[in-house]
Amino acid sequence: MLRKRLEMVSKMVREGVRAADIGTDHAYLPIFLVEKGICPSAVAADVVPGPLKNAQKNIALHRLEDKISTRLSDGLDDLTPDDGDDFIFAGMGGTLIVELLERTDWIRDGSKRFIFQPMSHGEDVRRFLCENGFEIICEDACRDSGRIYIALCAEYTGRVTKPPVSFYYTGKLTQCEKDEAGIYLSRQTERLKKAIDALEKSGGSDPELRLAVDQMMKIQSL
Ligand SMILES: C[S@@+](CC[C@H](N)C(=O)[O-])C[C@H]1O[C@@H](n2cnc3c(N)ncnc32)[C@H](O)[C@@H]1O
Repeated sequence: MLRKRLEMVSKMVREGVRAADIGTDHAYLPIFLVEKGICPSAVAADVVPGPLKNAQKNIALHRLEDKISTRLSDGLDDLTPDDGDDFIFAGMGGTLIVELLERTDWIRDGSKRFIFQPMSHGEDVRRFLCENGFEIICEDACRDSGRIYIALCAEYTGRVTKPPVSFYYTGKLTQCEKDEAGIYLSRQTERLKKAIDALEKSGGSDPELRLAVDQMMKIQSL
């Protein structure tokens, strides 16, 4: 059985498409997607040989070698657009995810979907998407082993957007009715409020972050 965090991610993958899981480690996600018949095939990619060996072992245990291939790749560097339709980045920091996206031009293709489950700095991912012509289609949150996780998916439209700065911190989680989304948003607001208060007490300032916090507090009081 897949952990709730990865189950949340799996629900954003379109039925019938090929998936590519970047930073796959154990390959639990591609195995689940193929076994459940959501994807006919998948690529399980990782930059470190050890995790990729784990992936290969698990794929063989499930007798899925003919449907799931593995790839040693730093981000998308050794993948091509032909390797998949839905590209997943789960369990990585948002800053790393952005670094990996920034150096790959072919991601600007409206037929592809990108699914992210950032462990931190989701704001970096949203900012990159808005500034580079991607539309965030949906966001979700879940609780897994006592921790709240978020996931979002996006597609390229070519339309660059400049949303209110708070959007980078909240994304479309404001439209998600789950308790977990509300908890995530109020924790995020508190965390940023503390950070900005501490900065201002020591004489510093970050007008953009202050604006984001003010906007988030306003949204939450509605
Ligand atoms: C915490 S694990 C997440 C595994 C799985 N995606 C999940 O969500 O459970 C992060 C994985 O990302 C891989 N990784 C880190 N940097 C990477 C990069 N630049 N390109 C591809 N994989 C990377 C690591 O080797 C590790 O296996």
